Amino acid sequence: MNKQSSAKRAEKLRELINDYRYHYHVLDESTMSEAAADSLKHELAELEAEHPELVTPDSPTQTIPGEVAKGFKKVQHATRMLSLNDVFERSDIEAWVKRIEKLMGGKELEFFSDIKLDGLACSLVYEDGILVRGATRGDSFVGEDVTSNIKTIGSVPLKLKAPEEFLKGRTEVRGEIVIFKEAFNKLNKDLEKRGEKVYANPRNLAAGTIRQLDPKLVASRPLTFFAYDLIHDGFDTSHDKVYKNLKSLGLRTSGLEQVFKDVDDLEKYIEVWNQKREELKFNTDGFVIKVNDREAYRDLGVVGKAPRGAVAFKYPAEQGTTKIKDIFVSIGRTGAATPVAILEPVNLAGSTVSMATLHNASEIERKDVRVGDTVIVEKAGDIIPAVIRSLVELRTGVEKKFAFPAKCPECGTKLIKFKEDEAVWRCPNNSCPARVSRRIQHFASRAAMDIDGLGEKNVEALLDSELIKDPADLYSLTFKQVLSLERFAEISAQKLIDSIARKKQPTLPKFIFALGIRQVGAQTAIDLAEKFKSLENLSLASLEDLLEVEGIGEVVAESIFTWFRELENIELLDKFKELGVQPEEVNQVSGGKLEGLSFVITGSITGMSREEAADRIRELGGTFQSSVGKGTTYLVAGGSVGESKLKKAEKFGTRIIDENELLELLS
Ligand code: IVH
Repeated sequence: MNKQSSAKRAEKLRELINDYRYHYHVLDESTMSEAAADSLKHELAELEAEHPELVTPDSPTQTIPGEVAKGFKKVQHATRMLSLNDVFERSDIEAWVKRIEKLMGGKELEFFSDIKLDGLACSLVYEDGILVRGATRGDSFVGEDVTSNIKTIGSVPLKLKAPEEFLKGRTEVRGEIVIFKEAFNKLNKDLEKRGEKVYANPRNLAAGTIRQLDPKLVASRPLTFFAYDLIHDGFDTSHDKVYKNLKSLGLRTSGLEQVFKDVDDLEKYIEVWNQKREELKFNTDGFVIKVNDREAYRDLGVVGKAPRGAVAFKYPAEQGTTKIKDIFVSIGRTGAATPVAILEPVNLAGSTVSMATLHNASEIERKDVRVGDTVIVEKAGDIIPAVIRSLVELRTGVEKKFAFPAKCPECGTKLIKFKEDEAVWRCPNNSCPARVSRRIQHFASRAAMDIDGLGEKNVEALLDSELIKDPADLYSLTFKQVLSLERFAEISAQKLIDSIARKKQPTLPKFIFALGIRQVGAQTAIDLAEKFKSLENLSLASLEDLLEVEGIGEVVAESIFTWFRELENIELLDKFKELGVQPEEVNQVSGGKLEGLSFVITGSITGMSREEAADRIRELGGTFQSSVGKGTTYLVAGGSVGESKLKKAEKFGTRIIDENELLELLS
């Protein structure tokens, strides 16, 4: 074949295969057998190998997985990927409608509704109609570039179906990546057979898959992309037009989208699908409701992270019944002894539940929950499943009351109550193996030091082999030592060593939080770092000094004061120092334009996280506080301000400013 006819043939093959892909993955129809399509793909691949100049970015051969990636590039979204405010009751929908109709000057609005797919949000960017980038939502501003993985999804068009002049420039499609329930069950069974980790639910599987570095593995898992938004000049007069356009561009939508003039009809529709949600191929947790008119939707603006013109109606938490096989007591980082029920596995809200919390000893007694009981369990979103109550009517007499242990099941120390009126029993032994393990897991967790690869199993393996005894020991681990453990291979061992080494100079607030001092959460850690500037200052702080920090009361102050005076903690801090782990000191910038001014932010600021705002304030010499106090200069109101905050601001003469005024001060 000469060059010209090869080019023609390649173009025709490309169109034919992409058309097959569209019919198969978007319309659920088949234009030819899979074998025939494969054969055409093979021919195209051969042609392209012979004439590499014929390869185009929209060629279906480009979806064939390539090399394993080293990591994902961060990419900035053109506009923020917002989330939605949740509502749970019909009356909440009605109140929201009333509120926004009032904001729109009493205008009666039309609504657009679509099922809420329980997957992960994703953005597809097309240049002149050709897919150039696929990215995860990330923190809403910056996501991860997962283009090679996204290209393996059949329902993601490589080229949009519209005349070129119509698609000039940039078009962005946003939507949700899901895996169908059936495919999820099959995949999980295969994973189990191979002795690999199974996923808790389809959402975790879809999200876990998209962030895999090996596109071959991604291609082997049947993911589906459902579109729900289109960002392109001139497309968008209403949301239902957006969906029509999405479909004509070759994208798949849920098919359950609909326009409603009457809120009553909308609510009925949502309820119908609540009853029938089992029948859907994918998991859902509710419905998305938007003002249909895009101009009105835009005019209504954004509050915090969510548009005012839309809400997510969440279906109620799922309940189910099952039997309690046993009850055991789990010991947490601070020694809290939590009773946990082992259940006969039951499917709730799309995941298999085999354990549920019973909270504490008095809860078990109050609810009279017994081993062998048939119980109602509930799971709502990401919350730990809980036992709601026992169905006493179903007792046969063999059920057994649970005797709460007097001693810690892990180390045998007598359990005590720190305060008499407390419901929680605790293991007071600081070296209790369960507590040590949890402490190290907390130290490494994302909100603390954020060290990858230190989940429960790996921490336990390190402890069991006595390679570590406390969090500081992590920093003396060697590659060889880690490699000697069965759970690690060369790459994973090196990765762990590298990720620990990367966290030798943490920020002060993260380090304080990571220490796991009782009563010191992430925000208190920020406040402490702000006030004391260095770990050394904090360790020397008197009770009075600590009480000066806004929001810190006697209990917290005492807990911090005592922690820094306990021998094993002093030794731990010394060890960190010896190993070169040095949190950054907070440098007060002098001479900055905000010197002497202090800020409290309530709600959120558009285009900036609170941490970013705090950093910027500090850079300019100002102080960032977590609550309004005597010296607070400004209270920045991102959204509405609660009554008590207003009163405080009035009392202390604090000026209330909005986010625009803040941005001006920061510019
Ligand atoms: S519209 C401003 N439609 O739910 C965001 N979102 O809780 C407007 N989601 O971030 C999104 N199904 O990832 C929309 N049919 C649907 C959806 C949907 C699932 C997700 C989406 C969004 C999250 C908000």
